[in-house]
Amino acid sequence: MLTDKLQRPLRDLRISVTDRCNFRCVYCMPKEAFGRDHAFLGRDQLLTFEEIAHLARIFSSLGVKKVRITGGEPLLRRDLERLVAMLAAIPGLDLTMTTNGSLLAEKAQLLRDAGLRRVTVSLDSLDDGVFRAMNDADFPVERVLAGIEAAARVGLSPIKINAVVRRGMNEHTLLPLARHFRGTGHVLRFIEYMDVGHSNGWLLDHVVPAAEILSRIDAGMPIEPVEPSYPGEVATRWRYRDGGGEIGVVASVTQPFCQGCSRARLSAEGQLFTCLFATSGQDLRALLRGGAGDGAISSAISGVWSDREDRYSEIRSGQTAGLPRIEMSYVGG
Ligand SMILES: C[S@@+](CC[C@H](N)C(=O)[O-])C[C@H]1O[C@@H](n2cnc3c(N)ncnc32)[C@H](O)[C@@H]1O
Ligand code: SF4
Repeated sequence: MLTDKLQRPLRDLRISVTDRCNFRCVYCMPKEAFGRDHAFLGRDQLLTFEEIAHLARIFSSLGVKKVRITGGEPLLRRDLERLVAMLAAIPGLDLTMTTNGSLLAEKAQLLRDAGLRRVTVSLDSLDDGVFRAMNDADFPVERVLAGIEAAARVGLSPIKINAVVRRGMNEHTLLPLARHFRGTGHVLRFIEYMDVGHSNGWLLDHVVPAAEILSRIDAGMPIEPVEPSYPGEVATRWRYRDGGGEIGVVASVTQPFCQGCSRARLSAEGQLFTCLFATSGQDLRALLRGGAGDGAISSAISGVWSDREDRYSEIRSGQTAGLPRIEMSYVGG
């Protein structure tokens, strides 16, 4: 089994299919940094679907069991269902996607038919004003809710709902969000605001710690902890004491989980990153387009993984704050 220097296996691959997005979430792609003149990747820079599927097959042969399609906003990539079908044809891969849900109502059936199993939808608040302010594209909350309903209808479930909590923006709306999804079978996961990239102007003061998030929920609807469903699970699990279902909390800032991290990330232009906070990647597109065979590409990936010792979130400190960092919309959230 392929493991890194800290004995962590390579089990998950996140594939970013585009660095573009129709939202400008303040914690991810703030307008000041991603304005009209921002240089996004050109079409010929993006990996083609065939190239992505080719790499995914190699990753699968190296032990990857789960692939998550992400971005940017993955549903902006035209004919994405074609890629889904190609990835779904790889035996033994659990295939899922993270999306902002804006195009999900139209796409859910096509994605399901192509072989997508499940979906994670990001939704930070049910309060329309708060949601529009956070996505900063004036996008209404009902359309994301319609996307979630469509996904549930076609069986892209269990659906996970990701809510990033940013101090001063949405922490007063967490309880209504939890109430809405309680009893639906969808699993709401609150995510601590992370210091990814440089453009969001992250400050520790903007983070609402998981402990505070949980006590806000517990005060309205009592909860108790649940054992992790597998080692290295990113979210800690909680359930409503009265049987109304589960929620999760991703405490990447206050309780980092680097120890169990088995994730590699492939950017939309084919750079392989071994950490969300990595400063450089390995250019797999150059290998593919340079005519390298599967053996050579597989050795390159194994080499990168066996050298891996990233544990940024555990060593996050004043010294790491100034280091160069890639943006989440580029490397894939
Ligand atoms: C980068 S997005 C890409 C997929 C899609 N556009 C979406 O929003 O679901 C993936 C996830 O990262 C989360 N995210 C983005 N920036 C973040 C940050 N600074 N801290 C924590 N989570 C963040 C988003 O809320 C989303 O759930
Ligand atoms: S979090 Fe997702 S929806 Fe929001 S700007 Fe980033 S990529 Fe777009």
